Amino acid sequence: SLKGLDLRAEIDRLRKERNAVILAHYYQTPDIQDLADFVGDSLDLSRKAAATDAEVIAFCGVRFMAETAKILSPDKIVVLPDMDAGCSLEDSCPPDQFRAFRERHPDHIALSYINCSAAVKALSDIIVTSSSAEIILSQIPADQKIIFGPDKHLGGYLARKTGRDMLLWPGVCIVHEAFSETELLKLKAQHPGAPVLAHPECPPHIIDHADHVGSTKSILDYALASDAETLLVATEPHIIHQMEKAAPHKKFIGAPGADGNCNCNMCPYMALNTMEKLYVALRNLQPRIELDEDLRAAAQKPLERMLEMAG
Ligand code: 13P
Ligand code: SF4
Repeated sequence: SLKGLDLRAEIDRLRKERNAVILAHYYQTPDIQDLADFVGDSLDLSRKAAATDAEVIAFCGVRFMAETAKILSPDKIVVLPDMDAGCSLEDSCPPDQFRAFRERHPDHIALSYINCSAAVKALSDIIVTSSSAEIILSQIPADQKIIFGPDKHLGGYLARKTGRDMLLWPGVCIVHEAFSETELLKLKAQHPGAPVLAHPECPPHIIDHADHVGSTKSILDYALASDAETLLVATEPHIIHQMEKAAPHKKFIGAPGADGNCNCNMCPYMALNTMEKLYVALRNLQPRIELDEDLRAAAQKPLERMLEMAG
């Protein structure tokens, strides 16, 4: 039994013993964010995973992120505290259907959001994150036709912002899909002048009210640089932990769902990782990401292209 164990101390002991680095996404619980060696958005987490000297990467995030770490750092052991930590965007895009979609549009290149399986990455030309999509798009010739998947909201946002007409795969993030425009407008009325910060996975009726749209890292940076005393945050609310730590005098309010509170906007997949499971993963070096080498190598190419084009 794990009862009575000082999990934080045990994790610290194991991370040294195993020569492990603990990488965490902003949507993890505060206890995990606080012990991680690095907390970041999808792009920065990929960069860290590609560059680490550690022998083990303990990835506190969802499976596509841990897979990305393994694709970029194949010689490392990559553990994920809970292998069921999936993503609704990944689920929306089965590789066989994506292959058929590509085959119906042979004159298009496939730009894929990193929130997809290794198999979909292997079928893609370039991977993007929300923080790198615009700079990558700007390097693709204007007459080049593009398929964008699996997030139709990120794709739609990019199309509106850059004027590029892209064929969109119809996937959504269930977390960002759940924000309520009516409740957000109520909140704005209660906090006049409070800027709205939104992730581009939000649907357009939320983006339309945003003062800043960007990745988790970009939302965090904007929140900390802003002069505003109160800010409304339309992304998964665990990122507010970093905001409160860095700016304890400011008020950060999570955007609500239809029930008027922000609890329905917690990512159920991210929530599967716990301190207990992280401890067990470091102790057992399981559950471990294992990928077929041909698949891994095929998925590496569009990811390396992302890292080059993102600069
Ligand atoms: P970023 O941290 O790259 O903005 O991604 C957000 C997200 O939903 C990850 O699942
Ligand atoms: Fe997937 Fe959305 Fe959860 Fe991110 S927040 S892992 S996009 S379901």
